[in-house]
Amino acid sequence: MRDPGVWAGEGPWQGLLLAAAVLGSCLQPAPAQSHIALTPDPPPAPQVGGAVTLALQPPQSLAVCTWYRAAESVSSAEILTYVQDKGQRNGPSYTGRETGRPDCSLHITGLMLNDSSPYFLWMPTTGSKITVTLAVYEMLLQPKVISSNFTVVENRTLNLTCEAPPSTETLLWDRDGSVLVPGGRVELSTGNRTLTVPGVGRDDAGNYTCEVRNPINTVRSKGVIVTVIYGPVAAHITLTGPLHPLLGDNVTLTCAADSFPAPQFHWSHNGSDLVPALTSAVLSLVLRGAEQTGVFECHATNPHTGRRATTSVSIGLGPGLGQQAGSLSGGTIAGIIIGTLVGLGLLVFVFYYFWGQSKRHSKKPVQTGSRTPVAPHGPDVTRSGPLKEEEVSYSSVAFRAGGLQTPRPQGPAKADTTVYAEVKKK
Ligand SMILES: *[C@@H]1O[C@H](CO)[C@@H](O)[C@H](O)[C@H]1NC(C)=O
Ligand SMILES: *[C@@H]1O[C@H](CO)[C@@H](O)[C@H](O)[C@H]1NC(C)=O
Ligand SMILES: *[C@@H]1O[C@H](CO)[C@@H](O)[C@H](O)[C@H]1NC(C)=O
Ligand SMILES: *[C@@H]1O[C@H](CO)[C@@H](O)[C@H](O)[C@H]1NC(C)=O
Ligand SMILES: *[C@@H]1O[C@H](CO)[C@@H](O)[C@H](O)[C@H]1NC(C)=O
Ligand SMILES: *[C@@H]1O[C@H](CO)[C@@H](O)[C@H](O)[C@H]1NC(C)=O
Ligand SMILES: *[C@@H]1O[C@H](CO)[C@@H](O)[C@H](O)[C@H]1NC(C)=O
Ligand SMILES: *[C@@H]1O[C@H](CO)[C@@H](O)[C@H](O)[C@H]1NC(C)=O
Repeated sequence: MRDPGVWAGEGPWQGLLLAAAVLGSCLQPAPAQSHIALTPDPPPAPQVGGAVTLALQPPQSLAVCTWYRAAESVSSAEILTYVQDKGQRNGPSYTGRETGRPDCSLHITGLMLNDSSPYFLWMPTTGSKITVTLAVYEMLLQPKVISSNFTVVENRTLNLTCEAPPSTETLLWDRDGSVLVPGGRVELSTGNRTLTVPGVGRDDAGNYTCEVRNPINTVRSKGVIVTVIYGPVAAHITLTGPLHPLLGDNVTLTCAADSFPAPQFHWSHNGSDLVPALTSAVLSLVLRGAEQTGVFECHATNPHTGRRATTSVSIGLGPGLGQQAGSLSGGTIAGIIIGTLVGLGLLVFVFYYFWGQSKRHSKKPVQTGSRTPVAPHGPDVTRSGPLKEEEVSYSSVAFRAGGLQTPRPQGPAKADTTVYAEVKKK
């Protein structure tokens, strides 16, 4: 490195420059195809701590060359001027790491990120001016995907940010192995660092990674799992058992609803909650009597979306009318009742006779067949607001003739195969 003071005497120096410029402009027209080649050390690209050579191509032997750390000849940005046989005179932008060479090239060592800049070469002897842009890169560290929330409710906005190093040249997003391209609902901004998906759908759930690249290396973030909460929109009941159940038959109702997370289930019969509350997806019963027939409703609730779907099935004693799964209509109910009465008149008569006897002997107002909610502190939550039913405990056993109640304040629902009702007549 030369001491900048070596060339402090400006007078003779400027005279030499002027002379060279006048001479050179006559003899050496600017070669139009000249350019500056960047040779990084080490390859493949200029990197922090490394070195680079900026060399005129094709090589030329010129009397004077001046380098600027700028896109034009701004005197405050002059790094150095190299004069054949005299050597290097340093300018204001000289940092102690730059060396001029006889072939007019500029060698920079100890590269820093902020050496990234346009560089301007002025050759007064030819009048040539050439600009080159140097980009210094650093080894990329692993990026990280961050978000205020990786769990998004359907139709809301998913925001992911890739914490990428400044030296990132290309940033790509990936979901479950596929590169995401902007367009559709996917929006990329700030150099792809931010991924936004407004109106997020179920398909947007998955394993997201971001990958950063520059000429030195490529690094991928760890995957983050984005979860989309949705549904239920509809529920449906599958009936397993005889198509036309008779007394003693085993009937199993399985309720399903598309929802994430999986919905919470809740059943009611003839409009009243089952007691004890049944919160499994499966309702199993052995048909013991006509009071077990009627309309079974399944309510599927997703507390995260506040959505609830309800479906019902009506069960009537067979054979004949009224045994069908599916959605309920008034006609269906009527069919069940009529079918039951007509087809099983004797049975129903006998049953109601004994049931009536039982009722007359009962002192309690709440009993089988009543549409009144049976739990002492249990409102008919099928008509109350959503998301409340889990808090309600039903503390009595349904279908016990005579309204025998079994208090069970904290009786939660149990297995998927809860046997729901057995009628004991007295
Ligand atoms: C580049 O950054 C270094 C430290 O990181 C600083 O000392 C130097 O002045 C900066 N150079 C320019 C041209 O900004
Ligand atoms: C993320 O969003 C879900 C759904 O809106 C919400 O239930 C959850 O509390 C949120 N988590 C955080 C940490 O904000
Ligand atoms: C999202 O929007 C679609 C279409 O408007 C709708 O069908 C769906 O129920 C919505 N989902 C939620 C969770 O609001
Ligand atoms: C995403 O960003 C938008 C706008 O900045 C904001 O309204 C929304 O709540 C954000 N969503 C999440 C999940 O952070
Ligand atoms: C942004 O991502 C797209 C594809 O998803 C890619 O084509 C483009 O080069 C990326 N841009 C940057 C600056 O990384
Ligand atoms: C997410 O994907 C990456 C690769 O793309 C994989 O290494 C990682 O194990 C995945 N994470 C999960 C939780 O599946
Ligand atoms: C009724 O069916 C359920 C489910 O298949 C079974 O667990 C239960 O043991 C059956 N009960 C009778 C009495 O068959
Ligand atoms: C439910 O309704 C059916 C049909 O109306 C009836 O036969 C049955 O006794 C009722 N059961 C209860 C417990 O209300």
